[in-house]
Amino acid sequence: MKKKEALGWMEWLRGWMYLIHEMLFQRIMASHLSNPMPLPPLNDQTFIVTGSTSGIGREIARQLAEAGGHVVMAVRNTKAALDLIRKWQDDWSGRGLPLNIEAMELDLLSLDSVVRFAEAYNARLGPVHALINNAGIFQIGEPQKFSKDGYEQHLQVNHLGPALLSLMLLPSLIRGSPSRIVNVNSIMHYVGFVDPDDMNVTSGKKKYSSFVGYTGSKLAEVMFSSVLHKRLPAESGISVLCVSPGIVQTNVARDLPKIVQTGYRLIPYFIFSPEEGSRSALFAATDPQVPEYTEMLKADQWPVCAFISQDCRPTNPSEEAHNTETAHKVWEKTLELIGLPADVVERLLGGEEVECKYGAHTS
Ligand SMILES: NC(=O)c1ccc[n+]([C@@H]2O[C@H](COP(=O)([O-])OP(=O)(O)OC[C@H]3O[C@@H](n4cnc5c(N)ncnc54)[C@H](OP(=O)(O)O)[C@@H]3O)[C@@H](O)[C@H]2O)c1
Repeated sequence: MKKKEALGWMEWLRGWMYLIHEMLFQRIMASHLSNPMPLPPLNDQTFIVTGSTSGIGREIARQLAEAGGHVVMAVRNTKAALDLIRKWQDDWSGRGLPLNIEAMELDLLSLDSVVRFAEAYNARLGPVHALINNAGIFQIGEPQKFSKDGYEQHLQVNHLGPALLSLMLLPSLIRGSPSRIVNVNSIMHYVGFVDPDDMNVTSGKKKYSSFVGYTGSKLAEVMFSSVLHKRLPAESGISVLCVSPGIVQTNVARDLPKIVQTGYRLIPYFIFSPEEGSRSALFAATDPQVPEYTEMLKADQWPVCAFISQDCRPTNPSEEAHNTETAHKVWEKTLELIGLPADVVERLLGGEEVECKYGAHTS
């Protein structure tokens, strides 16, 4: 069969229609949700939130901590995180016990940093109840850039880094079981396409743009998560989900021209606040019915992982995300790029040590 080189035009058109629909109607679709979203008491639960110094991640971390959770802010700028923690503790004082929140360094542009983070966390022998892979970049209009590991930056920060982190933290997620991996994805994966043989978009077959880099990285994340969801047996008690936060006013548009940023701020009716944008990830990380739902998908051999929309309702990822052949190739290629063996999940679940090309050993 001829290899698929791009989305079909109907898929592409439908993708854009979903995107425009979300932009125009997200507030109506989510009108049943309160803001902030009430959370159950989270005492004794540990959450790792990547990219929690800004935007959606900042809201996720604050709200989880205020609901009693132990929150680890996994960030590249630890000083900014510590400043935030101080502010949140001050705002919280007099309302209960101090917040249980800390910062640890994680730079997704360095796979060594990802391994260092996971090794340091695993060495505590403590549980993780939810890993929230929130950090992400969209370098709008910028030329193609590569990490020091040699990978296109959207691919690395939005997909490879979170994939490596999720796998390396499996020992702690097993200790926290029932536990969850929540990936803050995007409706824009609907217009994304991934060629597993050209994940860096360097072959010249497809012209690179930041749009291609961003949407492809988000689709790769859905595909990888779908295979991970299937590889984790029900007994592991680990649920894997992707969520769409909606269109949210954050620093993600920091690379847009100033005039466009001004326009962006002038349409608050359509755009969610970070607090509103945090609801789908908070729902996926804390709603008690989520494990049952993800297990049902597994039992039904549904081809994709759970995908929660900005209105906290389950939805279907894109048609291309259902392409299981490509998803398996993306899984295999991803493991190769992040330097882990093909049977990493099975070995970690069996309590074995697994060697990663980046950093030393993990258990
Ligand atoms: N905003 C939207 O409309 C929207 C829509 C769909 C999906 N999303 C997704 O939502 C997630 C959060 O984005 P946001 O909108 O809240 O954007 P944001 O305000 O720019 O926050 C992104 C966070 O990611 C962190 N980050 C970036 N590069 C990193 C790296 N190399 N290592 C570690 N952390 C890194 C940033 O840290 P620094 O503060 O140090 O830069 C920041 O804390 C992303 O995955 C994004 O793709 C957003």
